[in-house]
Amino acid sequence: MQEKIANIKTKALEEINNANNAKELDEVRVKYLGKKGELTLILRSMGGLSPEERPIIGSLVNAVRDELEEKIKQGENRFAELEIQSKLENENIDVTMPSKKTQLGSIHPITQIIKDVEEIFIGMGYEIADGPEVELAIYNFDKLNTPPDHPARDVQDTFYITDDIVLRSQTSPVQARVMETQKPPIKIICPGTVYRSDSVDATHSPVFHQIEGLVIDKNISMADLKGTLAMFAKKCLGEKTEIRFRPHHFPFTEPSAEADVSCFVCGGKGCKVCKGEGWIELLGCGMVHPNVLKNCGIDPEEYSGFAFGFGVERIAMAKFGIDDMRLLYENDIRFLKQF
Ligand code: DAH
Repeated sequence: MQEKIANIKTKALEEINNANNAKELDEVRVKYLGKKGELTLILRSMGGLSPEERPIIGSLVNAVRDELEEKIKQGENRFAELEIQSKLENENIDVTMPSKKTQLGSIHPITQIIKDVEEIFIGMGYEIADGPEVELAIYNFDKLNTPPDHPARDVQDTFYITDDIVLRSQTSPVQARVMETQKPPIKIICPGTVYRSDSVDATHSPVFHQIEGLVIDKNISMADLKGTLAMFAKKCLGEKTEIRFRPHHFPFTEPSAEADVSCFVCGGKGCKVCKGEGWIELLGCGMVHPNVLKNCGIDPEEYSGFAFGFGVERIAMAKFGIDDMRLLYENDIRFLKQF
């Protein structure tokens, strides 16, 4: 029996030494130490031995098994190292090879205008505010002094979710939300998406973008409004840009005005961009109506302020000479690449 075990050991060690890879090594392990392996079978057959022989043979088999296991382990480690070695040698990277060029996109003209405007107003000490696009009608209309019978509230113009909830038709409700949660002085602009029940054509889209502005403090006057917007027009459209104000009506401002800028293409002489007018309509603005201040918990005796709002598409189209609004939404790379 002892001789048989010694033979198994010699044979097994030789096969372990001769194994060429991890798979062959594993085959040796199964052959000798597996469930039906030669050494295992000897352990199993020990019932037939005499009680004196049993412990001697048992410890011999165990010692051989330990030794074989140890050698197999060493072999496995060696093959694992060899594999890493050969991977390192074969998979080296040629760093001089030219790389695949990633296609770089460009910033969409709408985003570009929003970023430019934000930059200008941040430079004047404004903060950026945000509000929900699915808005309570109270914020979109009532708090902004827009009575229930106002035409802007008509289902023809506004997308109603329920009687009390709308897709905001303007960024102005953010004014009310900011006034309710912040104490003056307030200086914010709010860029965002707005929705109106308009059919798509060259100058209309049911989804478009506005930028709202609001300043509330003590002693704010129309002069502050005019100075701020004149400065903004120059920074946004060029230093030579002039601004003019025409009386207008908005429910949430009093007095209200519309502001035009001198055409930055022809300088005011009249051209295709300004349709021969010399002026381009830019925005709506005015002094915040005392009712709006009251509705939002600000004392109109102590504070006053101005507000303005404009369409981003309109500015993008004028600035980049785009004559059809639909181009802005079609995502045609040939169009977008030009900006
Ligand atoms: N919300 C107005 C609109 O959508 C634009 C506007 C006009 C905003 C006057 C203002 C403002 O803040 O004072 O036509």
